[in-house]
Amino acid sequence: METKVESSTDIIVSRDGHVLSIAFNRVTKKNAITVAMYQAMADGLAEAAADPAVRAILIRGDESVFCAGNDLADFMKNPPRGSDAPVFQFLHGLANAAKPIVAAVAGAAVGIGTTMLLHCDLVYAGANARFSLPFTQLGLCPEAASSILLPQLAGYQRAAEKLLLGEPFDAEEAHNLGLVTRVLPTEALNDFALTQAKRLAALPPSSLRVTKGLMKDANRNAVLQRIAEEGAQFGKMLIAPEAREALTAFMEKRPADFSKFD
Ligand code: COA
Repeated sequence: METKVESSTDIIVSRDGHVLSIAFNRVTKKNAITVAMYQAMADGLAEAAADPAVRAILIRGDESVFCAGNDLADFMKNPPRGSDAPVFQFLHGLANAAKPIVAAVAGAAVGIGTTMLLHCDLVYAGANARFSLPFTQLGLCPEAASSILLPQLAGYQRAAEKLLLGEPFDAEEAHNLGLVTRVLPTEALNDFALTQAKRLAALPPSSLRVTKGLMKDANRNAVLQRIAEEGAQFGKMLIAPEAREALTAFMEKRPADFSKFD
Protein backbone atom coordinates (compact mmCIF):
# COMPACT_ATOMS: atom_id res chain seq x y z
CA MET A 1 0.00 0.00 0.00
CA GLU A 2 1.26 3.45 -0.82
CA THR A 3 2.14 5.75 2.10
CA LYS A 4 1.35 9.38 1.52
CA VAL A 5 4.39 11.48 2.24
CA GLU A 6 4.69 15.23 2.67
CA SER A 7 7.93 17.05 2.09
CA SER A 8 9.88 17.70 5.28
CA THR A 9 11.87 20.64 6.60
CA ASP A 10 12.73 18.43 9.56
CA ILE A 11 15.51 16.97 7.44
CA ILE A 12 17.93 19.31 5.70
CA VAL A 13 19.76 17.85 2.72
CA SER A 14 22.63 20.09 1.63
CA ARG A 15 25.87 20.03 -0.34
CA ASP A 16 29.33 21.20 0.63
CA GLY A 17 31.59 20.51 -2.33
CA HIS A 18 31.45 16.77 -2.98
CA VAL A 19 29.85 15.99 0.39
CA LEU A 20 26.09 15.55 0.68
CA SER A 21 24.85 16.14 4.23
CA ILE A 22 21.63 14.80 5.69
CA ALA A 23 20.93 16.74 8.89
CA PHE A 24 18.18 16.20 11.44
CA ASN A 25 16.36 19.47 12.10
CA ARG A 26 13.62 18.68 14.60
CA VAL A 27 15.38 19.36 17.86
CA THR A 28 12.20 20.22 19.82
CA LYS A 29 11.18 16.58 19.35
CA LYS A 30 14.76 15.31 19.82
CA ASN A 31 14.93 14.65 16.08
CA ALA A 32 12.43 11.78 16.34
CA ILE A 33 11.81 10.52 12.80
CA THR A 34 8.40 10.75 11.11
CA VAL A 35 7.40 9.02 7.88
CA ALA A 36 8.05 12.26 5.98
CA MET A 37 11.55 12.45 7.47
CA TYR A 38 12.32 8.85 6.46
CA GLN A 39 11.25 9.73 2.93
CA ALA A 40 13.45 12.85 2.92
CA MET A 41 16.44 10.84 4.14
CA ALA A 42 15.81 8.06 1.61
CA ASP A 43 15.57 10.69 -1.14
CA GLY A 44 18.85 12.23 0.06
CA LEU A 45 20.60 8.85 -0.13
CA ALA A 46 19.12 8.20 -3.59
CA GLU A 47 20.33 11.63 -4.75
CA ALA A 48 23.80 10.84 -3.40
CA ALA A 49 23.86 7.48 -5.17
CA ALA A 50 22.74 8.93 -8.51
CA ASP A 51 24.96 12.02 -8.66
CA PRO A 52 28.62 11.42 -9.53
CA ALA A 53 29.44 14.83 -7.99
CA VAL A 54 28.62 13.36 -4.57
CA ARG A 55 31.58 11.42 -3.24
CA ALA A 56 30.77 11.14 0.46
CA ILE A 57 27.71 11.39 2.68
CA LEU A 58 27.46 12.93 6.15
CA ILE A 59 24.60 12.19 8.56
CA ARG A 60 24.37 14.47 11.57
CA GLY A 61 22.21 16.08 14.24
CA ASP A 62 23.33 19.10 16.21
CA GLU A 63 25.47 19.31 19.36
CA SER A 64 22.56 18.52 21.69
CA VAL A 65 20.89 15.52 20.06
CA PHE A 66 21.39 13.09 17.20
CA CYS A 67 18.07 11.24 16.92
CA ALA A 68 15.44 9.85 19.35
CA GLY A 69 14.47 7.09 16.91
CA ASN A 70 11.05 6.62 15.44
CA ASP A 71 8.51 9.29 16.27
CA LEU A 72 6.35 7.14 18.50
CA ALA A 73 3.12 9.09 17.89
CA ASP A 74 3.60 9.11 14.11
CA PHE A 75 4.56 5.45 14.30
CA MET A 76 1.26 4.47 15.92
CA LYS A 77 -0.69 6.48 13.35
CA ASN A 78 1.37 5.48 10.30
CA PRO A 79 2.97 2.06 10.86
CA PRO A 80 5.24 1.01 7.96
CA ARG A 81 3.22 -0.67 5.23
CA GLY A 82 5.05 -2.94 2.82
CA SER A 83 8.69 -3.28 1.83
CA ASP A 84 8.62 0.04 -0.05
CA ALA A 85 7.64 2.07 3.05
CA PRO A 86 9.92 5.11 3.55
CA VAL A 87 11.71 3.50 6.51
CA PHE A 88 12.70 0.54 4.30
CA GLN A 89 13.70 2.82 1.42
CA PHE A 90 15.99 4.55 3.90
CA LEU A 91 17.42 1.31 5.30
CA HIS A 92 17.99 -0.15 1.84
CA GLY A 93 19.66 3.11 0.80
CA LEU A 94 22.03 2.82 3.75
CA ALA A 95 22.75 -0.88 3.33
CA ASN A 96 23.32 -0.54 -0.43
CA ALA A 97 25.30 2.71 -0.33
CA ALA A 98 28.42 2.38 -2.47
CA LYS A 99 29.73 5.76 -1.32
CA PRO A 100 31.23 6.24 2.16
CA ILE A 101 28.94 7.46 4.94
CA VAL A 102 30.24 9.47 7.90
CA ALA A 103 28.03 9.96 10.98
CA ALA A 104 28.40 12.63 13.67
CA VAL A 105 26.55 11.69 16.86
CA ALA A 106 26.07 14.05 19.78
CA GLY A 107 23.52 13.63 22.57
CA ALA A 108 20.84 10.95 22.40
CA ALA A 109 20.89 8.28 19.70
CA VAL A 110 17.92 5.99 20.36
CA GLY A 111 16.63 2.98 18.44
CA ILE A 112 17.23 3.58 14.74
CA GLY A 113 19.32 6.58 15.84
CA THR A 114 21.81 3.94 16.97
CA THR A 115 21.12 1.09 14.55
CA MET A 116 21.62 3.27 11.45
CA LEU A 117 25.22 3.76 12.63
CA LEU A 118 25.90 0.05 12.05
CA HIS A 119 25.69 0.83 8.31
CA CYS A 120 27.93 3.90 8.39
CA ASP A 121 31.66 3.75 7.65
CA LEU A 122 33.11 6.37 10.00
CA VAL A 123 31.11 7.06 13.16
CA TYR A 124 32.25 9.98 15.29
CA ALA A 125 30.67 10.60 18.67
CA GLY A 126 30.71 13.65 20.89
CA ALA A 127 31.62 12.99 24.51
CA ASN A 128 27.97 13.72 25.38
CA ALA A 129 26.60 10.98 23.10
CA ARG A 130 24.25 8.48 24.70
CA PHE A 131 23.11 5.42 22.81
CA SER A 132 20.22 3.03 23.45
CA LEU A 133 18.33 0.21 21.82
CA PRO A 134 15.12 0.11 23.88
CA PHE A 135 13.26 -2.31 21.61
CA THR A 136 12.25 -4.81 24.31
CA GLN A 137 11.25 -1.96 26.63
CA LEU A 138 8.83 -0.90 23.89
CA GLY A 139 7.48 -4.40 23.25
CA LEU A 140 9.31 -4.42 19.91
CA CYS A 141 12.31 -6.20 18.38
CA PRO A 142 15.55 -5.01 16.72
CA GLU A 143 15.54 -3.41 13.26
CA ALA A 144 17.98 -2.25 10.58
CA ALA A 145 19.66 -5.70 10.70
CA SER A 146 21.01 -4.81 14.14
CA SER A 147 20.23 -8.35 15.30
CA ILE A 148 23.10 -9.60 13.14
CA LEU A 149 25.27 -6.50 12.79
CA LEU A 150 25.63 -5.73 16.52
CA PRO A 151 26.60 -9.30 17.52
CA GLN A 152 29.09 -9.36 14.62
CA LEU A 153 30.58 -6.08 15.79
CA ALA A 154 30.54 -6.41 19.56
CA GLY A 155 30.30 -10.16 20.18
CA TYR A 156 27.08 -11.93 21.12
CA GLN A 157 27.07 -11.34 24.90
CA ARG A 158 27.80 -7.63 24.72
CA ALA A 159 25.22 -7.20 21.94
CA ALA A 160 22.68 -9.24 23.91
CA GLU A 161 23.03 -6.96 26.93
CA LYS A 162 22.29 -3.92 24.77
CA LEU A 163 19.46 -5.51 22.75
CA LEU A 164 17.76 -7.50 25.53
CA LEU A 165 17.97 -4.96 28.37
CA GLY A 166 17.91 -1.82 26.22
CA GLU A 167 19.80 0.25 28.78
CA PRO A 168 21.63 3.37 27.55
CA PHE A 169 25.41 3.41 27.13
CA ASP A 170 27.84 6.27 26.70
CA ALA A 171 30.28 7.26 23.96
CA GLU A 172 33.25 5.52 25.57
CA GLU A 173 31.35 2.23 25.83
CA ALA A 174 30.10 2.61 22.24
CA HIS A 175 33.73 3.04 21.21
CA ASN A 176 34.70 -0.11 23.15
CA LEU A 177 31.88 -2.04 21.45
CA GLY A 178 33.23 -1.02 18.05
CA LEU A 179 30.15 1.03 17.17
CA VAL A 180 32.03 4.33 17.27
CA THR A 181 35.24 5.09 15.37
CA ARG A 182 36.40 7.89 17.64
CA VAL A 183 35.11 10.00 20.54
CA LEU A 184 35.65 13.77 20.33
CA PRO A 185 34.92 16.83 22.45
CA THR A 186 31.30 17.56 21.57
CA GLU A 187 32.00 21.10 20.33
CA ALA A 188 34.60 19.76 17.85
CA LEU A 189 32.41 16.92 16.53
CA ASN A 190 30.54 18.35 13.55
CA ASP A 191 33.52 20.20 12.07
CA PHE A 192 35.70 17.14 12.46
CA ALA A 193 33.14 14.84 10.84
CA LEU A 194 32.73 17.22 7.89
CA THR A 195 36.52 17.42 7.50
CA GLN A 196 36.74 13.62 7.43
CA ALA A 197 33.93 13.45 4.86
CA LYS A 198 35.80 16.00 2.72
CA ARG A 199 39.00 13.96 3.07
CA LEU A 200 37.13 10.92 1.77
CA ALA A 201 35.64 13.00 -1.05
CA ALA A 202 39.12 14.05 -2.17
CA LEU A 203 40.19 10.42 -2.73
CA PRO A 204 39.59 8.52 -6.00
CA PRO A 205 35.88 7.51 -5.97
CA SER A 206 36.54 4.22 -7.76
CA SER A 207 39.06 3.19 -5.11
CA LEU A 208 36.67 4.09 -2.29
CA ARG A 209 33.83 2.23 -4.01
CA VAL A 210 35.85 -0.95 -4.50
CA THR A 211 37.34 -0.83 -1.00
CA LYS A 212 33.96 -0.32 0.66
CA GLY A 213 32.40 -3.00 -1.55
CA LEU A 214 35.11 -5.50 -0.60
CA MET A 215 34.40 -4.89 3.09
CA LYS A 216 30.61 -4.89 2.81
CA ASP A 217 29.60 -7.18 -0.07
CA ALA A 218 30.01 -10.54 1.70
CA ASN A 219 27.39 -9.53 4.27
CA ARG A 220 25.03 -7.56 2.06
CA ASN A 221 22.45 -10.24 1.18
CA ALA A 222 22.27 -11.41 4.79
CA VAL A 223 21.78 -7.81 5.92
CA LEU A 224 19.01 -7.11 3.40
CA GLN A 225 17.28 -10.38 4.26
CA ARG A 226 17.50 -9.62 7.99
CA ILE A 227 16.08 -6.11 7.49
CA ALA A 228 13.04 -7.80 5.90
CA GLU A 229 12.76 -10.51 8.60
CA GLU A 230 13.05 -8.02 11.44
CA GLY A 231 10.58 -5.72 9.66
CA ALA A 232 7.99 -8.50 9.46
CA GLN A 233 8.30 -9.23 13.21
CA PHE A 234 8.42 -5.53 14.09
CA GLY A 235 5.26 -4.83 12.08
CA LYS A 236 3.35 -7.54 13.95
CA MET A 237 4.68 -6.44 17.35
CA LEU A 238 3.86 -2.79 16.73
CA ILE A 239 0.13 -3.51 16.72
CA ALA A 240 0.26 -6.02 19.62
CA PRO A 241 -0.90 -5.01 23.12
CA GLU A 242 2.62 -4.89 24.65
CA ALA A 243 3.81 -2.19 22.24
CA ARG A 244 0.50 -0.33 22.49
CA GLU A 245 0.98 -0.20 26.27
CA ALA A 246 4.62 0.98 25.91
CA LEU A 247 3.86 3.64 23.30
CA THR A 248 0.77 4.91 25.14
CA ALA A 249 2.81 5.07 28.37
CA PHE A 250 5.46 7.18 26.60
CA MET A 251 2.79 9.53 25.29
CA GLU A 252 1.20 9.76 28.76
CA LYS A 253 4.66 10.29 30.36
CA ARG A 254 4.28 7.33 32.73
CA PRO A 255 6.19 4.04 33.14
CA ALA A 256 4.86 1.15 31.04
CA ASP A 257 3.16 -1.70 32.93
CA PHE A 258 3.78 -5.11 31.33
CA SER A 259 2.61 -7.10 34.40
CA LYS A 260 -0.57 -8.35 32.71
CA PHE A 261 1.22 -9.91 29.71
CA ASP A 262 2.43 -13.56 29.57
N1 COA B 1 8.81 10.12 19.47
C1 COA B 1 8.00 11.18 19.64
N2 COA B 1 8.30 12.23 20.43
C2 COA B 1 9.50 12.19 21.05
C3 COA B 1 10.39 11.11 20.92
C4 COA B 1 10.00 10.04 20.08
N3 COA B 1 10.79 8.99 19.86
N4 COA B 1 11.48 11.35 21.67
C5 COA B 1 11.28 12.54 22.26
N5 COA B 1 10.08 13.04 21.89
C6 COA B 1 9.49 14.31 22.31
C7 COA B 1 8.95 14.23 23.74
O1 COA B 1 7.64 13.67 23.75
C8 COA B 1 8.96 15.69 24.13
O2 COA B 1 7.85 16.32 23.52
P1 COA B 1 7.03 17.48 24.32
O3 COA B 1 8.06 18.57 24.57
O4 COA B 1 5.98 17.87 23.35
O5 COA B 1 6.54 16.84 25.59
C9 COA B 1 10.21 16.22 23.43
O6 COA B 1 10.50 15.31 22.36
C10 COA B 1 11.42 16.28 24.32
O7 COA B 1 11.64 14.98 24.86
P2 COA B 1 12.03 14.71 26.40
O8 COA B 1 11.73 13.29 26.71
O9 COA B 1 11.39 15.75 27.26
O10 COA B 1 13.62 14.98 26.35
P3 COA B 1 14.74 14.38 27.30
O11 COA B 1 15.97 15.16 26.99
O12 COA B 1 14.27 14.30 28.71
O13 COA B 1 14.96 12.85 26.78
C11 COA B 1 15.19 11.12 25.12
C12 COA B 1 15.40 12.62 25.47
C13 COA B 1 15.52 10.95 23.65
C14 COA B 1 16.11 10.25 25.98
C15 COA B 1 13.72 10.75 25.43
O14 COA B 1 12.88 11.73 24.80
C16 COA B 1 13.31 9.40 24.94
O15 COA B 1 13.63 8.39 25.55
N6 COA B 1 12.54 9.37 23.82
C17 COA B 1 11.96 8.13 23.32
C18 COA B 1 12.98 7.37 22.53
C19 COA B 1 12.41 6.11 21.97
O16 COA B 1 11.88 5.27 22.67
N7 COA B 1 12.48 5.99 20.63
C20 COA B 1 11.90 4.91 19.89
C21 COA B 1 12.88 3.84 19.59
S1 COA B 1 12.14 2.60 18.52
